[in-house]
Amino acid sequence: MSTTVDNPFFARVWTAMSAREPESLRRLRRENLAGLTGRVLEVGAGTGTNFAFYPATVTEVVAVEPERRLAALAARAAADAPVPVTLTADTVEQFRDGEPFDAVVCSLVLCSIDDPDSVVAQLYSSLRPGGELRYLEHVAGTGARARLQRFADATLWPRLAGNCHTHRHTEQTIAAAGFQVRGRREWTLPRWAPVPVAEFAIGRAVKPAGPTER
Ligand SMILES: C[S@@+](CC[C@H](N)C(=O)[O-])C[C@H]1O[C@@H](n2cnc3c(N)ncnc32)[C@H](O)[C@@H]1O
Repeated sequence: MSTTVDNPFFARVWTAMSAREPESLRRLRRENLAGLTGRVLEVGAGTGTNFAFYPATVTEVVAVEPERRLAALAARAAADAPVPVTLTADTVEQFRDGEPFDAVVCSLVLCSIDDPDSVVAQLYSSLRPGGELRYLEHVAGTGARARLQRFADATLWPRLAGNCHTHRHTEQTIAAAGFQVRGRREWTLPRWAPVPVAEFAIGRAVKPAGPTER
């Protein structure tokens, strides 16, 4: 279980990247948050790039960000956010809250968690019945791309990219936790890009409203 996240190199890289996000990624962030209501838990908020896109129907965002350099920037973004944002320095594994959430938001974060199966199960428990997980994540590729990803994951990539793992079957993990995926789509960046991160998925996964639905 992660109790600290301390990635000075990645924090610098991510700060630069998130300050220059293309409009296409901003559109995806907006889409991932569209229609949310009530109390929301955001996991690994980074510099707080999502905060500006929460709809006014969200009453509170509780954002977990344990990397202190990124959390300092997230605190600034929280102050300018259109909805109330409370920031906590816990890792998601440490985070506990007595009240169930209406939604959980994960964007580009389930790749960086040590044990995604147990964290996604924890997120499932933190939701009210009928609540939903919104995700925007990069996911495992197939064939030669899978081999490239496995090589990257076994060598330098996680160390350079804040524990990011490129070959993760994140949507299988989400379904295995008990979520029902009600809307999803995927896309791949151009094949010529020799980078291990190219396959992405966005989706809405619902915690069934009653025990019989599971
Ligand atoms: C690639 S960044 C994405 C940031 C943000 N979600 C976004 O969409 O811009 C991954 C984030 O996950 C955070 N993170 C890594 N391990 C974590 C953990 N165990 N608990 C909570 N956050 C974590 C990192 O500190 C970092 O901010």
